[in-house]
Amino acid sequence: MARVGIFGAGWVGLVTGACFADLGHEVVIRDVVPEKIERLRAGEVPFHEPDVPELLERNRDRLTFTLDVDDVADCDFLFVCVDTPPTYSGDADLSRVWTVVDELPELEGRRILVMKSTVPVGTGEKIRHGLDLRGLSHVAYASNPEFLAEGNAVRDFMHPDRVVIGAFDDADSDTVAALYEGIDARVVRCDVNSAEMIKLAANAFLMTRISFINEIANVCEATGADVVKVAEGVGLDHRLGPHFLRAGIGYGGSCFPKDSLALKQLASNSGYHFQLLSAVIEVNELQKRRVIGKLTKHLGPLRGKKVALLGLAFKPNTDDMREAPSIVLASRLLAEGAVVRAWDPVVRDPGNLPRGVEVVESVLDAVEGADAAVIVTEWDDLRHLARDEVRAAMANPLIIDGRNLLDPGAVRAEGFVYEGIGRRTVATDVLPETRARDPELR
Ligand code: UGA
Repeated sequence: MARVGIFGAGWVGLVTGACFADLGHEVVIRDVVPEKIERLRAGEVPFHEPDVPELLERNRDRLTFTLDVDDVADCDFLFVCVDTPPTYSGDADLSRVWTVVDELPELEGRRILVMKSTVPVGTGEKIRHGLDLRGLSHVAYASNPEFLAEGNAVRDFMHPDRVVIGAFDDADSDTVAALYEGIDARVVRCDVNSAEMIKLAANAFLMTRISFINEIANVCEATGADVVKVAEGVGLDHRLGPHFLRAGIGYGGSCFPKDSLALKQLASNSGYHFQLLSAVIEVNELQKRRVIGKLTKHLGPLRGKKVALLGLAFKPNTDDMREAPSIVLASRLLAEGAVVRAWDPVVRDPGNLPRGVEVVESVLDAVEGADAAVIVTEWDDLRHLARDEVRAAMANPLIIDGRNLLDPGAVRAEGFVYEGIGRRTVATDVLPETRARDPELR
């Protein structure tokens, strides 16, 4: 069994550490924030991620949390799991990565520094040079990008589609591959630059699929087709596959928005204008705002209208609100003069939500007196939204389903007016007050 040191007790670092411990390795997780380390030592997990608390508990004996960089000095592997947020220019901020390199203790014998953080192509070569300058030529370097999705991270780690290892030396990639023994997955070995690009390209492709299906959804709306059926029919083509074809109000999260900008900037810094990626980003920005048009269609000007936002997290099974479409939507609604009440089953720290949004404890509190309910995150709790007590609580029985979570026919049968994303509207999809306002609809 190996000794694995991990820099960064964030989401990636903790999931990686907990999973390596579960594979039987000794793991030391180091962070610079004392409060975080104290909480972890006390058995608290600072975020909502299924299976992580159980894994940390089960492997207590093999996991150490520390502030002291010297505690990782005798580790065979040193994983870099710090975040690389975008700078003002959209480039990835590598300052935390470089701090790790600068702080590495005096290491004796063959060690390997492994990059899990998402970094621009060319970073590994620069770090290799930096290690050599620091007199750490005996420390090997490998790129081993993570492909974990929030809410599914432990399963993604234990059952990955592939493990990518980029190294300057074949022996180093064998060493890293050995760490994953016990996991049944194809290992893709390559040079460091290609490993870095695989991560960025995979995320960019996933985003491209989302923006593509969202544009198809928008055309479906204009032409009377149903994007859910279209995605099913398209996805059954084995050359295309069914994944990431769920139309909605756009992607968010801590990875996609940041990684798309980083790749776009990486390309333009290298003299290439990545047109397709620029369009993918723009489509996503517009998609988040389309709900406003749908609300206005039914309610007229939104000034003074009460709107319930159901779901704040950027996707279900996480409490992460980073770059969540809910934030843009809430800001746009407030700018239109609407009164916004929001609910989410797990988000307890809606830090980025604009002031003026009231966050309430239950779905019923959110929809009380509301002119419209908008499904922003496809939480399971919302599958039964179209029920009597909700309809009775609302001022107008209007559901805008931003994630196509509900069955339109069933929702309409319950007496609601329903609009999804890229779904057929029907003649009955008109609120009584709209009908009264517009003589042509009478
Ligand atoms: C994503 C990738 O899926 C991971 O493989 C990758 O490791 C990770 O980024 C990362 O770079 O660290 P994550 O951001 O956790 O993972 O979440 P996803 O499940 O990929 O969803 C991202 C966003 O796309 C969400 O807002 C989701 O609602 C949206 N989405 C996803 C759609 O709108 N439609 C879809 O069909 C799929």
